[in-house]
Amino acid sequence: MKILGIESSADETAAAVIEDGHNMLSNVVASSLDLHTVYGGIVPEIAARSHVESIIPVINQALIDAFGNTELSSGNGEKIPNSQSSIPDSPDFWDQIDAIAVTNRPGLIGSLLIGVMTARTLAILKNKPLYGINHVLAHTYANFITEAAPSLSTIYSLPSTSPSFPALGLIVSGGHTQLMLYKSHKDYKILGQTKDDASGEAYDKVAKILGLPYPGGPSVDKAAAKGDPDSVKLPKAKLENAYDFSFSGLKTAVLRAAQQMAGKDYTFPSTQLPQALTDTQKANLAASFQKTAVDTLADAVVSAENEFEPKSILLAGGVAANRSLRQELEARLKTPLLYPDIKLCTDNAAMIASAAYYWQQKADNPYTLRVVPSL
Ligand code: KG4
Ligand code: ZN
Repeated sequence: MKILGIESSADETAAAVIEDGHNMLSNVVASSLDLHTVYGGIVPEIAARSHVESIIPVINQALIDAFGNTELSSGNGEKIPNSQSSIPDSPDFWDQIDAIAVTNRPGLIGSLLIGVMTARTLAILKNKPLYGINHVLAHTYANFITEAAPSLSTIYSLPSTSPSFPALGLIVSGGHTQLMLYKSHKDYKILGQTKDDASGEAYDKVAKILGLPYPGGPSVDKAAAKGDPDSVKLPKAKLENAYDFSFSGLKTAVLRAAQQMAGKDYTFPSTQLPQALTDTQKANLAASFQKTAVDTLADAVVSAENEFEPKSILLAGGVAANRSLRQELEARLKTPLLYPDIKLCTDNAAMIASAAYYWQQKADNPYTLRVVPSL
């Protein structure tokens, strides 16, 4: 079964063709990230406009990569030229697609609408079943992609085996932080989630305090490599449910420590802090923040491992790209830890198509499938 996945919930416009949930035939991602960096975060209107421009070329490229002339193949996230701006009409391509899966929740409403309306239109035109997919839960399915077409297998480092159930899943992204227990694909529950900021959001906000570029995850991680993680004592939130998370107090503690280091009090505007801090101070703050954030996530996963004795532990979402998090979990866990290739941690459509295959739910109505911005 070959599923065309479509993703447009934030700033990435993505399409992919996945066979039987695990074999990646194509994976195309066009990001409008560069357009948002100057604002220090995603600007919803810019993201939506960019999806309008990119979605047809991206789907087009995903179909060509999967079924067409391999010389045109991109597959590694390059921006697609506007000349390929019509959906290929070759019946050969569409004959091979068995279903369309699209992220319809959660996300930015304008962004979601572009992907969903495109998928609905294609499902009606090409007479394919349509599946609306939950983006957050789908992140875990990047771990189920174990095979790729020859042109992609050199670009991606993929696991050789699929995860085993029961599995724990830690989904850490810019919008969500959830600890999941999967008994099977369709039998899962949320053990805990963030009560305020998501872990990626905390990275992004700390980057802003330190004057580091957006997205904050990679830039804080880079700065942290030059700092001392024990130089600043930061608090770990303790919540009633050991599997819930809170990162907003940690972010504020970084702000207060930064003000103090700069010799200012709490009234000093955070926008002026980057100029008042030295590179060493920034690196120490980044390293101390990262250590506390990673420990907080790892503590919850270790507790859940002890309680539920899973056969595999799956890391997913943009923050799963973080090497310190991977290393800390690997050092503390007894159970095999799986994490996707860095290119499959951040938003992509391969995970959307894979989730649709394993969930095999009843098809949605292409005339009425709605977007749900918040869960
Ligand atoms: O999953 P994702 O691409 O989009 C959402 O669904 O939110 O995650 C984006 C988030 C951003 O907050 C970004 O700062 C974070 O993932 N991120 C990282 C790293 N790379 C991206 N966080 C920590 N370390 C990284 N290397
Ligand atoms: Zn995501």
